[in-house]
Amino acid sequence: MTADAVNKPLLETVLGRRQERLPIWIMRQAGRYLPEYREVRARAGTFLDLCYTPELAAEVTLQPLRRFDLDAAILFSDILVIPDALGQSVRFEAGEGPILEPVTVETIPGLDPSRALEKLSPVIETVRRVRTSLASDKTLIGFCGSPWTVATYMIGGRGSPDQAAARLFALRQPAAFARLIDILVEASIAYLGAQFRAGADVVQLFESWALNLDEVAFRDWVIEPNRRIVEGLRQAIPDAPVIGFPRGAAGNLPAYAARTGVNLLGLDYATPLAFAGNLPPGIGVQGNLDPLRLLAGGEQMEVRTRAIVAAFRDRPHIFNLGHGILPETPIAHVERLIEVARGAL
Ligand code: CP3
Repeated sequence: MTADAVNKPLLETVLGRRQERLPIWIMRQAGRYLPEYREVRARAGTFLDLCYTPELAAEVTLQPLRRFDLDAAILFSDILVIPDALGQSVRFEAGEGPILEPVTVETIPGLDPSRALEKLSPVIETVRRVRTSLASDKTLIGFCGSPWTVATYMIGGRGSPDQAAARLFALRQPAAFARLIDILVEASIAYLGAQFRAGADVVQLFESWALNLDEVAFRDWVIEPNRRIVEGLRQAIPDAPVIGFPRGAAGNLPAYAARTGVNLLGLDYATPLAFAGNLPPGIGVQGNLDPLRLLAGGEQMEVRTRAIVAAFRDRPHIFNLGHGILPETPIAHVERLIEVARGAL
């Protein structure tokens, strides 16, 4: 083991080497459940202003590590900065979530991935600043949304329970849809490469809407674009460590794990613990506590946390939730969760 290996337990685990310390981070760990986040958020202006102001974005990235015994910081940004940087209109309405001016067959060819990176330079500056302030044993996680998930927002204009607008568009307008995916693959490779060069140790691909797809759609719209991003990224950054999180992939998960090239797999909370037996041997996993168990707290949370840690004892495992932490989550529950997970190993 090298000196670096001792220094960053979470990075080492992504690279497939289990550590004595159980690495822990929490999806969406910087956010509204923290009063110090709400304070910065209130003086930032819009949500995108916060994402594009390196001083404030670096501050909120670091906030959870000041409070909790976590092993990683995740860059504070959003998956929808890429559509914004491509020239689509994106805004965030309080209580409503993101609202975009939907792309069409006519507007897709006008999206320009070559200009996107320039618009995202404040986010890259945030990575640089966080790197400078972060302790040497902490891993810095960069991220982007995976093309299918980002496309569901670009086409539908907002979140939806079944992504029907994007699924229909992909089926009716396959050429325009393929062009949109190509644009997102290209922009994502450039964006993630820049994050690595600025100091990210690992990146996560958020495929938050990998559900509701049949196996053909899953292969073409989820596996293939994620595989191309991993491949393209590693041409620029050899061996770049990547976590893939195809939320809701269910029975498609083994194919995703085998074919995308990701080092470690995020498991949503609906994935049974024993299902990991269907994954390629040795591939690491991250997850998978239901965020509602953390919100509710108490004995049920502790029992399930111990079961998760025990189930993944024989493979590289990063403890995490199975989806993002909810804004109503009490801070005391997060403290207790980390204590219980560490004690369970
Ligand atoms: O600690 C972190 O993880 C912070 C960085 C981060 C944010 N969004 C900040 C954010 C990350 C990694 C994301 C990812 C993201 N964004 C995903 C994938 C992860 C997932 O949960 O599935 C998705 C689908 C989005 C798109 C998005 N951004 C939605 C649907 C919303 C509105 C719903 C919500 O949670 O509020 C956002 C807004 C957003 N992104 C907030 C934060 C902290 C809340 C807005 C605010 O503070 O005003």
